[in-house]
Amino acid sequence: MFYQLAFHRIDRSVRWVSLGTGAAWLPPGGAEFEAQIVFVDPRRRVENIVLVDSTGRPLDTQSVEPVGELVAPVERFNAEPDHAKSFFRATFRLDSPDVVIAQSSPQEGSEPLFSLVPTLSNPTFLFDILQLARSQVPDVRFETLVETGTLYAHTAFHASHWFDQVISVELDVDLNRNAAALGLDRIEFRQGDSGTVIPELVHELDGPAVFFLDAHWSGDATVDWDKSRFRGFPTATAHLGDGEAPPSSTDQVPLDKELNAILDDFAHHAIIIIDDWESVGTKDHAFAGEDWSHLSEAGLLAQLRGSERTLFAYRYDAKHFVVGIKPR
Ligand SMILES: C[S@@+](CC[C@H](N)C(=O)[O-])C[C@H]1O[C@@H](n2cnc3c(N)ncnc32)[C@H](O)[C@@H]1O
Repeated sequence: MFYQLAFHRIDRSVRWVSLGTGAAWLPPGGAEFEAQIVFVDPRRRVENIVLVDSTGRPLDTQSVEPVGELVAPVERFNAEPDHAKSFFRATFRLDSPDVVIAQSSPQEGSEPLFSLVPTLSNPTFLFDILQLARSQVPDVRFETLVETGTLYAHTAFHASHWFDQVISVELDVDLNRNAAALGLDRIEFRQGDSGTVIPELVHELDGPAVFFLDAHWSGDATVDWDKSRFRGFPTATAHLGDGEAPPSSTDQVPLDKELNAILDDFAHHAIIIIDDWESVGTKDHAFAGEDWSHLSEAGLLAQLRGSERTLFAYRYDAKHFVVGIKPR
């Protein structure tokens, strides 16, 4: 299981922390991080930090030294007063999903400042969207959530606590196998192209369902990440096609095929949540080579708002579009 490193303040006066490593993912079996740790404590500049594990044992840290100059200047950090800014460079290994605590000195019991916590990225937005959308169809019980694009199964795992059944579809054979090997309850992991699997699945399901549509190529080693806003996941993600780089738009995003199948052939109530809506119609939005240009926002809006089955259709926030449909 891949974890993401999240920051939590322990000392409430620490205002802000940045690991400055791009994607901070902890892969199964552990990883070495070369981190540039910057943080702001309005009271003072901190001259020394040590990293310890949750039992208080110092971590095998190669160097925790003040950095003279920020490798990647962070606007927010630079805007802070000099006396409050602390920055260090550290190389440390994490072998297990343990909590790392940054202290202000090596002495036992010295002031803990903040922690780095391996965490499963928590789709709180999905929970919030569901609360709202479910209240718009209060008499309908949604027992099933279908997710397209499993990746590390973080969303599927969280959603399995909110639904009786989760079905998560992933094109990549390894990602699907890794997810299935986690042995999670109430989740069925299916391997395949969701543009093909969803048209089959809509006939299998015998009651209302939520569809969380999140399948799309999210990059691999062929991407020039230095020219990208998004830093990428620590594994290759899948796309259709014969392997040309970058893949064509239709090979990257199966959203149109998924939507056609649900609107045309799913017989029950559905809530459809489309992730990454801001990428619709764009090229190179999150990373160099990303291509959603075969889709148009106007075209999708006409289809979603124009269907005679549509109960509601709205943009929830920049990233998410939500649609409710009634049974056929
Ligand atoms: C953004 S990630 C999914 C993240 C995941 N839903 C979550 O919330 O943690 C997109 C995933 O879609 C997968 N994918 C790409 N094309 C696909 C397709 N045609 N069918 C199914 N999965 C696909 C990629 O391999 C990648 O793992």
